[in-house]
Amino acid sequence: MERKELINGGKVKSVYNTTDEDKVIIEFRDDMTAGDGERKEVMNKKGCLNAVISSKIFQYLESKGIKTQFIELLENNVMLAQKLDMIPIEVIVRNIATGSLVRKYPIEDGTKLDPPIVQMDYKDDEFHDPMLNYSIIKALGIATQDEIDILVELAGKVNDALREFFDQAGIILVDFKIEFGRDEEGNIILGDEISPDSCRLWDKETLEMMDKELFRKGKDDEVMDAYLEVYNRVLSDDDKSKYGL
Ligand code: TYD
Repeated sequence: MERKELINGGKVKSVYNTTDEDKVIIEFRDDMTAGDGERKEVMNKKGCLNAVISSKIFQYLESKGIKTQFIELLENNVMLAQKLDMIPIEVIVRNIATGSLVRKYPIEDGTKLDPPIVQMDYKDDEFHDPMLNYSIIKALGIATQDEIDILVELAGKVNDALREFFDQAGIILVDFKIEFGRDEEGNIILGDEISPDSCRLWDKETLEMMDKELFRKGKDDEVMDAYLEVYNRVLSDDDKSKYGL
């Protein structure tokens, strides 16, 4: 499989066409950004940690019957994936209230959300990712009602599976963001990444943060230790000897 031209240079990942027109190569770079890309640092090994953690999670979700774009890891930070027509919606699932939710609404930080909240934001830095509703999604022509229903159903399934996955690793899944795309037949497939960049993860015992929130709060020297701790907890010893991170 050979890498061809760059089709999307994102803030932290680069997507390339390949010699197989149904597949793309996603390179996870060591860049770390916050605030719509306003603050940017390079963190050694971050790309590898996020790619390996995402791969593990996508394989786990596949085992639970959830289709993902993941095919295989070609290198520690390079993923071969099914090519999708990405839908510009950030689907956010929240099990505990924190972050923008408590900044925007009268709800106390740390409140358990049962049932979880499913929120959709329009993925566009220029407009600062505004929150969507069903009418706006349809007016912008982003997705049909049937597709929206599928996104909500899949978000719930991913949440159920991931909560269990992280619980086994002694981690609370506070909230996370996922993205979906359409395959050639129009099926909705989970894409992008699921990593400490896109989830809020708290240690079950100490409630310490183990995700990108540390970077958002300026604790840059603690970020990679936290990502490494997530890696150490969610990967098996066999996996770890293979990746050697
Ligand atoms: P949210 O509380 O909306 O954002 P903020 O970090 O601004 O308070 O975030 C909810 C979850 O979704 C959190 O785990 C981070 C993740 N997320 C992303 O990965 N990318 C994004 O662009 C946004 C808005 C959230």
